[in-house]
Amino acid sequence: MTDIDTLQKDLANLPPDHPDRREAAVPAMLSLQSETGYLDDAAIEKIAEVTGLSSTEIEELATFYSLIYRCPTGRHIVQICDSVCCSMRGADQLLTAAENYLGAPLGGLASECAPTVLPSICLGLCDKAPAALVDGEAAGPLNRTLLETLLKRLQTEE
Ligand code: FES
Repeated sequence: MTDIDTLQKDLANLPPDHPDRREAAVPAMLSLQSETGYLDDAAIEKIAEVTGLSSTEIEELATFYSLIYRCPTGRHIVQICDSVCCSMRGADQLLTAAENYLGAPLGGLASECAPTVLPSICLGLCDKAPAALVDGEAAGPLNRTLLETLLKRLQTEE
């Protein structure tokens, strides 16, 4: 039985407007995403069915949370903070440098082995500005050279 099946069983007897249904949506999305790497429209529909919420409500949650991906991602994910501290220390130029280095727009995939680079709200790493999360690990302060070295390493890593 998958996590989603278990969740569906747990939610089956709850009233339609029970808050647990909404609280269950994000873990359900993360569970499905761990299998597929991202949530396509069918996954959104599946989570709506499991939780009893509308697909619009699930879509709203999916687009609100920065760790939920609606498009295919690379094997590695680099989230570069573009909030105030990081922006003042060059995050916008880093995001542009990443696009230029990878030859793909933010969130896009230039090739199968390319990492996905995404802008992010404050990562809580302001003391490392401009900062990033690389597959969930803190990195920073970054500059263009360090970022390009990092992207090159991620592209060639198995
Ligand atoms: S503003 Fe970038 S980590 Fe806080």
